[in-house]
Amino acid sequence: MKIAVTGKGGVGKSTLVALMARVISERGDRVIAIDADPDMNLFGILGVPENRKITPISEMKELIAERTGVEPGQPAPFFTMNPKVDDIPDRYCIEHKGIKLLVMGTVSRGGGGCACPENAFLKSLLTHLVIAREEWVLLDMEAGIEHLGRGTALGVDVMLIVVEPSRASLETSHRIEKLAGDIGIKKLAVVGNKIQDEEELQFLKENLGDLPLVGHIEYSSEIKKINLRIITAMEVQGRPLQQVEELIHKL
Ligand SMILES: Nc1ncnc2c1ncn2[C@@H]1O[C@H](COP(=O)(O)OP(=O)(O)O)[C@@H](O)[C@H]1O
Ligand SMILES: [Mg+2]
Repeated sequence: MKIAVTGKGGVGKSTLVALMARVISERGDRVIAIDADPDMNLFGILGVPENRKITPISEMKELIAERTGVEPGQPAPFFTMNPKVDDIPDRYCIEHKGIKLLVMGTVSRGGGGCACPENAFLKSLLTHLVIAREEWVLLDMEAGIEHLGRGTALGVDVMLIVVEPSRASLETSHRIEKLAGDIGIKKLAVVGNKIQDEEELQFLKENLGDLPLVGHIEYSSEIKKINLRIITAMEVQGRPLQQVEELIHKL
């Protein structure tokens, strides 16, 4: 399955992607997790050692120049819109505890989405990942999904919107719902996160409108320990892990 995870900043997207990747790899399936959020905190949550950090694809200037025919940052009226990317995931990912990882990086957006070689390259790569890979693909994304290309949107089986029990996060989810429709995402579902009690779960259910709730993860002191680097997502135990397993089962 190809799953994009989005939602307001801080709701727990990267945590969810990390836990899902772990559960999928531990049951013996192949999975590639892609950090496509400018925040880039997925590696830390999974506990990738500092010395193994890789260069984001968007910063690989020579590679982008070679594949698109144009140096990033150069004025370029003509460059390849469909650069070769099929060798990129295997060449540039790192493998950590059975999970493949790739970091996309950001393209400084001059105005409304830039028609530059970096963007063409990242878009082609994302589309390739969701269309051609025979493994689970998990995309950790920001809330602004409008720059996702149609090709990528079509390849995504489900877009999960992570929501915490707050008005602000619900408002973001409804904005995402609208954008997702515009770019052609086929299926949307919500995952409630940081749920402390029945009342909070009820609050979400009542305010999601047409968005289906596919699962939820409780507020967990285990998960909080990831922040302090006491544990990594690979070591979380108990209820939150079970809830992620149940979620994957439902998808
Ligand atoms: N279920 C949870 N219980 C407690 N804390 C959580 C939970 N999920 C996420 N967090 C915490 O919330 C913060 C934001 O999580 P993160 O995954 O980085 O969010 P995002 O990627 O959406 O910005 C982190 O400090 C994380 O440890
Ligand atoms: Mg994140």
